[in-house]
This record gives sequence, C-alpha cells and structure tokens, in this order.
Amino acid sequence: MKILFRAPPRFTAQLLGSWLLISSNISMAASLAPVAAEHGMVVTAQHLATQVGVDVLKQGGNAIDAAVAVGYALAVVYPAAGNLGGGGFMTLQLADGQKTFLDFREKAPLAATANMYLGQDGNVVKGLSTDGHLAVGVPGSVSGLEYARQKYGTRDRAQLLKPAIELAQQGFNLTQGDIDILHTATAAFGKDKASGAIFLKHGQPFKVGDKLVQKDLAKTLQRISHRGTNGFYQGPVAAALVKSSQSGGGILTQADLDQYRTRELAPIECDYRGYHVVSAPPPSSGGVVICEMLNILEGYPLKELGFRSAQSVHYQIEAMRHAYVDRNSYLGDPDFVTNPVDRLTDKAYAAQIRAVIDPNRAAISKELRPGVAPHEGSNTTHYSIADRWGNAVAVTYTLNDWFGTKITAAGTGVLLNNEMDDFTAKVGVPNLYGLVQGQANAIAPGKRPLSSMSPTIVNKDGKPVLVLGTPGGSRIITAVLLTLLNTIDYGMTVQEAVDAPRFHQQWLPDLTSVEAFAFSPDTRTLLEAAGHKLGPAQPANHMAAILIGAPALGGKPVGKNRFYGANDPRRNSGLALGF
Ligand code: GLY
Repeated sequence: MKILFRAPPRFTAQLLGSWLLISSNISMAASLAPVAAEHGMVVTAQHLATQVGVDVLKQGGNAIDAAVAVGYALAVVYPAAGNLGGGGFMTLQLADGQKTFLDFREKAPLAATANMYLGQDGNVVKGLSTDGHLAVGVPGSVSGLEYARQKYGTRDRAQLLKPAIELAQQGFNLTQGDIDILHTATAAFGKDKASGAIFLKHGQPFKVGDKLVQKDLAKTLQRISHRGTNGFYQGPVAAALVKSSQSGGGILTQADLDQYRTRELAPIECDYRGYHVVSAPPPSSGGVVICEMLNILEGYPLKELGFRSAQSVHYQIEAMRHAYVDRNSYLGDPDFVTNPVDRLTDKAYAAQIRAVIDPNRAAISKELRPGVAPHEGSNTTHYSIADRWGNAVAVTYTLNDWFGTKITAAGTGVLLNNEMDDFTAKVGVPNLYGLVQGQANAIAPGKRPLSSMSPTIVNKDGKPVLVLGTPGGSRIITAVLLTLLNTIDYGMTVQEAVDAPRFHQQWLPDLTSVEAFAFSPDTRTLLEAAGHKLGPAQPANHMAAILIGAPALGGKPVGKNRFYGANDPRRNSGLALGF
C-alpha cells in the first residue's frame, strides 16, 4: 500500500513497521457484548424510560407506540433533555419500507427579530439567547409525539401516557446517573423558584436514592392524556406558559402556541459502500452533512488504511472540516431558505472536495469559506427503537442545553428550552456549541433554528440494519458519522462502535477535539506534523444504537436474537433492553 502521509523523518522507519501492524487488522479494546433480544429493542438515556418502551412492545404496541411512550416518560425521568417544553425530530422507517421524518423542532416566536440578541453597539449580548425567557422557542414535542401516535401508532393516547403520569405522580428513585446530571444545574435551579421547588430538595441538591416527585408535571401529562395537543397548547397549561414568559420578559404568546404544527418531511437519503442511509433533513443539518462526509470518505480506502491510522483520520477530519463549512453557511429552515441539498449530497460534489484535500496536509479552516471553491458563494437526548415487524424509529429531542433555560413554567412542571441559541445571533459569532453560522440561519418569526440532531436509520437491501443517534449539539453529526464508519468500514459490533473514542472537527474553531485514547501517540505525532491542531475532548455524546440481524453488520446472529442494543457508557445512565 502506498503511504501518502509523510512522517517526520526520524519516525518514518519505525512507523512503517507499526503501519503494517495497524493495517493487518487492529481490534478494539474489548467492549461488552451488545444487549441481545429476539423481538425488539429499546435504547434510551434513562433506564426507567427504556423499561416503559419495552413494556409497550411486549404489550403488542409497535415501535412508534413505544417511541411516544418513551418520549413522555423521558420528560419525567430525564428532565435534562427529555421534555414537553422543547422539540425534536423523529426518523421513521415503517415495516412496509416507507421512510419519513417528523419535524417538531421549536419555532421562533412571532415577535422574534433577526437582531433580538444584539445590544445597541451591534454586538451579541452574552446570555440573552441562552438564559432567561428570551431564549425560549415555541415548544414542539407534544405536537410531534401526538402526530406520530395518531398517524403511525396503534395504541390510544391514555395507554401511552400512563407510565409517564405514574412516574411523575409517584416519583422515582434517583440513581447516580440521574444525580450526576441534576447536579450540573444546581446553581441555576436555585435562581428559579419553580425549578428549585422540583429539582432541589429543600433548596439542597438531591442524593442517590432520593425520590423525585413531579406533581405539576403529572397534572400537565394528565391534561395531555385527556385532551391531546389541546391539553398543552390551549387551556391552563398554555396560559401558564404565556404567563411565565411575560413575567420574565419573554415574547411567547397564545398566538405562538396556536400556530405550532409538526411538519412531515422527506428524509435525506444517500448510499455508502452498499448501505442506504436515511437521516434528518433541514431544519436539521445532520442528514445533509452526514451524507456529504460519507460521500467524500467513500473515495478513500478507509478499511485498508486501518482504524485510526493517521492517514485515515486525516481524511475524516478533512471531510468534517469541509462539510461543516457548508453546514454553517448554507443551511436553514426550508420554509425560509432554499437549501442546496441536491448539490451538497451529490457524489460529484464530494469528488470536487476530495480534489482539494491535500493527502499530506491539514487545511487551514479560515482559508475555507463559502465563495472559495469548491464551496459556492452565498451565503438534545436520543433514543432508538426497533420492533419485530420491521418498524424502526430514531428520535432526538431536546431543550438545547441540559435542562434548557433551567426555568420551569410555574404550575406546569414544564422546563423551558433555550433553542433560540441555535439560530445565528450575529453572522460570524459562535453560539453555545462554538458554531459560527451564516445568514441562512438568521432569526425570523415562526422560523425553526438549524439543528445538528441526526436521528438516522441505515438499510441493507431495503431492510433496516442500524438505528442510531445521540445528543451533543454540533458533535452529534460527527459522532453518528464515526459510528457508521466503525460498523460499516471497520466491522465493529454495535457496542464496540459506540464505545470507540471519538474526535470532532467543525471547521471553526480550527481545532479537532479528541477523546482520550482516540489516537495513539504515533498517530497524534503524524497528524500534528501534517498541521492538524488537536485539542481536548468536548463534553461526551450519549449514543443510542441498535443493530438488527447480528451484533455486527454482516455477522452471525447469536441464537435466535435479531436485535442488538448499545447504550453509550460515557454518561453513566441509560439502558439497552429488549425482549
Ligand atoms: N440544540 C442542538 C441541536 O438542535 O443541534
């Protein structure tokens, strides 16, 4: 094999030896075997929510029913990101092969303006798009879950809401994973009376084994159970949401709640090495960027180059860098901007990008811009469910930051999102995730902010073989990409693929963040010599993945088991469980 990557001279001889070793067949450090089951699988970020989903499947509900019940349950047992007051996406593949996508992303309130986060000096006022009521987008989750249930589910609403109502009403015992995440927001809960009354125990942080009871949230869930979306978007809950906004200087009105609708959209689809990838379309950037990166990488022999060889990592980083130029520059809500989806997901465009990737040298991010060829000028929790009938559902929904604004609308138990920060507050100024975005994602009334959430389903010969997704803001897209490469190119089991350390590059800042043990010292040396700037890991993702058919793609099933689930160990919570 030709080695393109030039090692510093003193390393060349020694690296040639290790290169041959690497390319012979690297194996991952041992991971646990994926959780195996015969009839169906649920992977979520909280064990009680996983159990709720499995119970629905056991009782004969389909994957969509389970997804709806899990969505409501996570709002209770995983308040950091499970929600009623946020929004999200659902990628579905039905047993008959139909593929579709539900967009229940939050919307900018009708009174929102492009410059609402700028001060008189024209600069972004720090915190305005992340803290307090001005950060809140019009929630979409209840609309989305109800839409999914009515159109694709088989169970009645009350049945699917019952477990969530019970968990909220009777409470549940907090485990270490629950506590770890609650403690991230202790100070903020102390500043909001309604949040402090729920998420603190007499003003102090909860401890392992304490019970979290959410009576107001139980009442809100009961109203939804009785009246459907009207139980949330109309009546006392809606009035409390509006009152909360008004009392905190926000702009949310009843008119915003009245006009909220879930959109059903065609997913983004692309092919990669014989697999068919189905993922999130705009207003998510996820599907477009994943397909763009896969198209670029398909032109390189990643398997032969070896897992995490400097050369293969170099190509992956460069693919990420180029695709994020496009993400941050061109994409936005399709009701407001024309997204160049066909061009960005075209294999010929990927070939143009490969042509400018130097095999030996990292690009300099600030030299890559819209308008510089080949880029044209112009301007979260995840859960995965698969059932015995062939339905597969991937859901990512979010309050944006953990616990969103950390403000609860008094009397409802509903935590409010800070999704408005996903818009471009000012062109060129980074948001919460360090994303430097463009005009296509400018704020406008009723517009949905660009997202990175990437609920994804992979097919082989028309059948779903992999269901996956993760939280993590801008790092969602690259975590999904790496999990795809780990399973498709490197043949890992689904658990190995989820466990494998990750790296992330998003164009700006010009720094690739690297988890511990992601690269060997030799690989690091080669990458840095080629101009790559490597930085510390970003906060961890929490991948939830299901592989259907065998523990690894193309592998042999274990006994009669068809479903193999992997919960990401990085976040000390979550469970893969089947039956
Ligand atoms: N709030 C993170 C995302 O939607 O990408």
